[in-house]
Formats: sequence, C-alpha cells, structure tokens
Amino acid sequence: METVLGIESSCDETAAAVVRGDRVILAEHIASQDEVHLPYGGVVPEIAARAHAEKLTPLIEATLADAGMTLADVDAIAATAGPGLIGGVMVGLVTAKALAMASDKPLIAINHLEGHALSPRLAEPALEFPYLLLLVSGGHCQLLLVEGAGKYRRLATTIDDALGEAFDKTAKLLGLGYPGGPAVEKLAMQGDPKAVPLPRPLLNSADPHFSFSGLKSAVMRAKQSGDYGDADIAASFQQAAIDCLIDRTKRAIAASGSVASGPVTALVVAGGVAANRAIRAALETLAHGNGLPFAAPPLALCTDNAAMIAWAGIERLRMGQSDLLDIAARPRWPLDPDAAPARGAGVKA
Ligand code: KG4
Ligand code: ZN
Repeated sequence: METVLGIESSCDETAAAVVRGDRVILAEHIASQDEVHLPYGGVVPEIAARAHAEKLTPLIEATLADAGMTLADVDAIAATAGPGLIGGVMVGLVTAKALAMASDKPLIAINHLEGHALSPRLAEPALEFPYLLLLVSGGHCQLLLVEGAGKYRRLATTIDDALGEAFDKTAKLLGLGYPGGPAVEKLAMQGDPKAVPLPRPLLNSADPHFSFSGLKSAVMRAKQSGDYGDADIAASFQQAAIDCLIDRTKRAIAASGSVASGPVTALVVAGGVAANRAIRAALETLAHGNGLPFAAPPLALCTDNAAMIAWAGIERLRMGQSDLLDIAARPRWPLDPDAAPARGAGVKA
C-alpha cells in the first residue's frame, strides 16, 4: 500500500507527516510559530520563512523516525507548492525537491487548498465525490463543488476578507492575541449572541458570495462605543458570521442541485475556521435539514497540517500524477482557475 511523506510550510505551521493509503497517519509533527508572531498580532512573512528553514529538516527526520521509516520506504514526497507566503512555501518545496532527488522518489506539488479540500476524505472513507465544500480558513472563504482530485468548481468566494481574518481581527480588537479564532470561540461561549446589533453582509443576495469587511468594521465600532462587554461582542460577531455562512451555503446547496456531475453526496466543511464548534453545529443542522450527510474533519485536520498534504499526494499518486523537479512555488494558485471573478472582489485568489 502506498505511503507518502507530506510537507506543509505555507503559513505559520511547519509540519511533516507520513500517511498510508488506508488512511493511517503513521507519524506527524507540527511546529507552530504562534509564539514568534504573537508580539505582532499576525504572521510576519520574513520571520515565518526563517522559522520554517530552521525547523523543517529536523521535523522531517523526527517524523520518519517515528514512523520507523527512511526515505527509501516512502512512495512519494508531497509538499505544498502554494498558495501562501512565498518564502515559507519555497522552503518546503525546495526541501521536498532535494529529498525527491536524493531518494529517487516522485515529487508531488500540492495546492494547499486542495489539501484542505480533500482532508475530509482522509478522515471519512465513505465520503464520495461530488461533495459541496465550504472551505473557510485564514486566507480563503469559498464554496466549492469537489468533483474529484484536481476537479473543483468554485461557486462562491469572498469579495473582501476571509472569515479567519475576521476572527483574527476581532481577537486583536478584544485583546485576545493570535491566533484569534479559538480565543474568540471560547469567549463567545460566555456572551449573548443577540447583545450587539451587527450586520450580515450579502444576506439573501443572489450569488452565494461572502463579505466580511463590513462586519469587521461594525465589530470595531461596537468595541469603541464602550457600550458592550467583550464576551457579548465575541458572541454576536460569531453569530453574525454563522448567519452569513448558513445563508450563503443554503443558496449554494440549491445551486448545486443543477450541476452536471449530479447531486452532491454531502455538505462538507474544511479549513482552520472549520475547527469552530458552533460553526460545525450550525452547518450540520443545515445539511440534515436539506437531507444531506454532513462531514467535517477532526479539529487537528482542520487547521494547517501535513497529513492533509500527504493525503492529497496519495490521491494524486493514485491518478498516476507527479511533478517535475523544476516546478515553481506559487504565491497564488486558485483551485478553479476558470471561476468568474466575484462582483467587487479584490486581489485574493
Ligand atoms: O487553515 P488554516 O490553519 O490556515 C490557513 O490556511 O489560512 O486557518 C487558520 C485560520 C485562522 O484565521 C484562525 O483564527 C482560524 O483559522 N481558526 C478558527 C478556529 N481555529 C482556527 N476560527 C474560528 N474558530 C476556531 N476554533
Ligand atoms: Zn490552510
């Protein structure tokens, strides 16, 4: 059975994992950079790249050792080749190329978003294509029809901020530190989701696109007004975000009924923000209300990790795919290059 070494370094986690074709994660190491970025309230690209360069090689060695393997025992090396912070991506990809060359094993260049998109299949053997995916992370907020590895149809994206970004900004505003998502979720549990009137951008609009910048500004005004407690702001923000996600996803479910590849098998959520329990619960209710199974990877597979990169590598390997050693790192790399730009969308892929 195939075994793949996965490498992830596109943002602020340095990670390596060895995953087997039967979905067993044989070994996995993640070095988080949270502490080095904490003083800045966000990821500093230069610092991130340097930390990846320092940590990656020992991390790969430890991962192979834990799996009781050497490079000779793996069938391929899969690494994130984009999108992400280019310095970090290059560290991971160059390392993977060197290992591939030294061991004469195939290199598989993985789109980080594909890692997230296929991660639910690592967790859930029964999950079949095509499924409707809400991909919510620090850099992306998209609804995608996943028809197969490499086959994505983007139904919607954010026209401004990603939801993870809005969580992180809210956390910063409330003095909760970085990364903000888990801290906002925790504080929200002590607050009243109806206490602060906040907007639900694009609610009921025809295309299922997202917008979070107006919500972010409203959170800032609520904090500055001094009229509300932090827990109420956190809870109200999270509720507004959930209302937007549910409304937009509901619309995408309706739209997904008329696609060529047939009815979707499930509603699936992935990406860092999918670690949020309130969001998972709301999406599960929506899915079941529409007669769809719901799938969400375990929390550790939602935030950035290398097991999802190794798994995407396995799916690619099974399709007979690998990449040449001259493949370049890509700061931007949309899953669906043919998607029409969203109305009012900025520069994000
Ligand atoms: O997928 P990810 O680890 O990295 C990217 O590819 O962007 O996502 C990171 C994002 C951050 O914005 C973080 O605040 C958010 O996911 N996040 C959460 C939670 N855990 C992580 N947001 C809301 N609730 C959480 N529990
Ligand atoms: Zn990610």
